[in-house]
Amino acid sequence: MAKYLITGTNRGIGLELVKQVLGQGHDVVATCRKPENVPELRDLQRANAALRVLPLDLASAESRQVLVDALNGDAVDVLINNAGMYGPRDANIGSLRESDWAEVMLVDVIAPVLLTQALLPNLRKGTERRLAFISSKMGSISDNGSGGSYLYRTAKSALNQAAKSLAIDLQPEQFIVLSLHPGWVLTDMGGPNALIDTNTSVAGMLKVIDSARPVDSGFFFAYDGAAISW
Ligand SMILES: NC(=O)c1ccc[n+]([C@@H]2O[C@H](COP(=O)([O-])OP(=O)(O)OC[C@H]3O[C@@H](n4cnc5c(N)ncnc54)[C@H](OP(=O)(O)O)[C@@H]3O)[C@@H](O)[C@H]2O)c1
Repeated sequence: MAKYLITGTNRGIGLELVKQVLGQGHDVVATCRKPENVPELRDLQRANAALRVLPLDLASAESRQVLVDALNGDAVDVLINNAGMYGPRDANIGSLRESDWAEVMLVDVIAPVLLTQALLPNLRKGTERRLAFISSKMGSISDNGSGGSYLYRTAKSALNQAAKSLAIDLQPEQFIVLSLHPGWVLTDMGGPNALIDTNTSVAGMLKVIDSARPVDSGFFFAYDGAAISW
């Protein structure tokens, strides 16, 4: 039994991650901006003593510190940085706005890396030492055949770069660090034309996280285990 900490768990991929990780018999710290507004998490908590739900707004340094303090030094074995945002859909060349871009970079790159940094003492107490960053194939430069999506693409590319550095920097401490593409998933972000459901995406990603070996650290994988080029 391991302890997972998962961000962005009030809906979509994050909520399904919580359900499946609990189903595997692990402990979960699930974070989201407003836990009091999420009946699904409340119901899961009622039925499951292994679930703890804590507030976290990634965009707030104070909120990140409150989360770290609430953990009170507890070990975390597996950290899944899942929360993310796409930004305004109309952000194309000609209409890009600095404030929108800055917010996406903060939520999708800077905050998850700073959160990981703040949780290192907890992660070092863990036995698994696995870090997963939910990225996107849209962050792959070699896969960019359609242009656009400046905010989201640049954020996920930067997230991949940070994950690579973390893999190298934490390799002496036997951490395994992965960038993961969840597939095109039926969620609010993925929209109604997406190709797979959260169940398929999450089952696949958990298998990838669980089976990753040291040699896989610092690489980019899809939910089905396929390697993705940067
Ligand atoms: N769906 C896809 O096809 C797809 C494809 C590739 C990658 N991804 C990635 O997969 C991850 C999960 O996406 P999803 O499809 O489940 O999207 P989603 O349904 O839009 O969920 C996004 C999650 O991120 C949370 N979040 C956003 N900003 C936050 C903040 N400042 N602080 C804390 N939480 C915040 C949201 O919370 P609120 O409800 O409070 O906003 C929500 O829980 C994201 O990193 C996304 O980029 C998704």
